[in-house]
Amino acid sequence: MNKATRKAVIAGNWKMNMTPSKAKEAIEKTAALVSGKNGCDIVLCVPFVDIDAAVTAAKGTNIKIGAQNVHFEKSGAFTGEISADMLLETGVEYVIIGHSERRQYFGETDTTVNQRTKAALAAGLTVILCVGEVLEERQSNITDEILSMQTKLALAGVSAEEMQKVIIAYEPVWAIGTGLTATPQQADEACGLIRSVLAGMYDEKVAEATTIQYGGSMNDGNAAELLAKYHVDGGLIGGASLVPEKFDAIVTAAQ
Ligand code: PGA
Repeated sequence: MNKATRKAVIAGNWKMNMTPSKAKEAIEKTAALVSGKNGCDIVLCVPFVDIDAAVTAAKGTNIKIGAQNVHFEKSGAFTGEISADMLLETGVEYVIIGHSERRQYFGETDTTVNQRTKAALAAGLTVILCVGEVLEERQSNITDEILSMQTKLALAGVSAEEMQKVIIAYEPVWAIGTGLTATPQQADEACGLIRSVLAGMYDEKVAEATTIQYGGSMNDGNAAELLAKYHVDGGLIGGASLVPEKFDAIVTAAQ
């Protein structure tokens, strides 16, 4: 398994954007554009309340639907939370876990990222696990240590078999929503570092088979050179995923 045989995954992260009616419109438009482009898996991760409309609009297309978070308990007194079983029943196949915005603004920790990851995998969801350093960490030359620590803690107790349903998104926090992008070289090095951590935790086979995305201001202009790098197997895209034409251009670059 290597770059040529790993399936690229282009995933949009809509964040807190789009009402259900807007979601329907955007998915119908996107589906028409990406139709027949089967050289990568295509996922849109939408707000919880958009899931129903999104799943309906994506039916029969090559777009799969994901959520942006999941709670780790199966059910109970957790006001405002959504369980993995609830997501599954609505037709969700993917879930983003550990996005830096959740870590920064909503008290997400490496421990809860690990709990959510295990719960999502146990339910049969595919996890898009986000890791990434903040600017001060990159400037202090501790990016490798941060990525290694976040990856190891998030995947503690996850088996090699379960890794078939884990995608890792390398998302340098300084590049998210800022218009700044990691250079292709920086993205390749960081994704390669994560792959070597997986080789240490599991083995070469798991490391080479795992899809590792880059996220952080990926857009229609820079996607091709980022995706050309050996260790970059796709993208997790925020802003540009809200514009069907831009998202389609990224999907096209991944063919
Ligand atoms: P951005 O977001 O593409 O808007 O930088 C990426 C992300 O947060 O996944």
